[in-house]
Amino acid sequence: MAEYTNRTVVITGAGSGLGAAMADLFAAAGANLALLDIDGPRAQAKAEELSARGIAAIGMRVDVADKTSLESAAAQIGEKFGAVHVLCANVGVQQLGAADKLTDQDWQWVLSVNVMGVVHTVNTFLPLLRAGQGDRHILLTSSSSFFQFGIRLAAYVASKFAVTGYGEVLRQELAPEGINVTLLFPGGMSTRHLQSSREARPEALGESKLDMADIEAMMASADITLENHVVPPEVAIRNLLATLSAKHPYLITHGNYRQQVEAQQREVLRAFDRMAAN
Ligand SMILES: NC(=O)c1ccc[n+]([C@@H]2O[C@H](COP(=O)([O-])OP(=O)(O)OC[C@H]3O[C@@H](n4cnc5c(N)ncnc54)[C@H](O)[C@@H]3O)[C@@H](O)[C@H]2O)c1
Repeated sequence: MAEYTNRTVVITGAGSGLGAAMADLFAAAGANLALLDIDGPRAQAKAEELSARGIAAIGMRVDVADKTSLESAAAQIGEKFGAVHVLCANVGVQQLGAADKLTDQDWQWVLSVNVMGVVHTVNTFLPLLRAGQGDRHILLTSSSSFFQFGIRLAAYVASKFAVTGYGEVLRQELAPEGINVTLLFPGGMSTRHLQSSREARPEALGESKLDMADIEAMMASADITLENHVVPPEVAIRNLLATLSAKHPYLITHGNYRQQVEAQQREVLRAFDRMAAN
């Protein structure tokens, strides 16, 4: 029997990129799938593709910034599959811009989707996770930007810090219930992220501005090139199932930023040394 037979996996942002790659991975492991995306037709098309391969899959439109839309999806998923065993809160949008140029609306959009969208997703699906038996997992998509914070990314990096901090606390709170929390830190991936982000931004918050100069400045500041940083999403999550089985807290997918992490840790430790010396 495959590892995920009779187990249900819910994935947000599953119409495209990383979420769609997760859907393929869990489908190959035998899971039932609920695929959610603000782009309803893409979520449904992915579910139909998997159904044609004999996988029990449903796809539906959900805006993670809208609690009502999540609640309606959870009711349908509960009815169809009963419990949920893996929840992948994967949606995140991008708005580049210099820190002093990002507007209140830019911040509102990024935080409402990347932070509150994750919180709403977890809160909405927790009852279905609690209804499941055995090991259950919450996978939160953070970003390598948590470690490798390039310029022009203030709103995005702040949002991924929030998701990461939230995940750290959630892991401790849910451990006694047998629900594991893993934080996923993907590096750059060849996905539709910039395009789908622009498409998903609510009209009421104005258009998402995209300036190539911001992308170039960001990549240069973090020593990022397409060659050293970008892989297809399915390559990024090649170790995901093993990471969940082992209940590891973190999954680093790829990228060249280990030395930056070590340098930052050394700087923090030097601050401790100064504290001890004074
Ligand atoms: N692409 C990268 O280089 C990269 C790097 C690190 C982390 N990430 C993170 O990976 C995750 C997935 O991004 P991706 O690269 O697969 O992008 P993607 O655009 O391919 O997929 C994201 C999906 O989220 C959907 N979405 C956007 N807003 C939504 C909302 N409010 N409610 C529901 N769905 C919504 C989009 O329609 C899209 O299908 C994000 O959290 C992103 O921040 C991406």
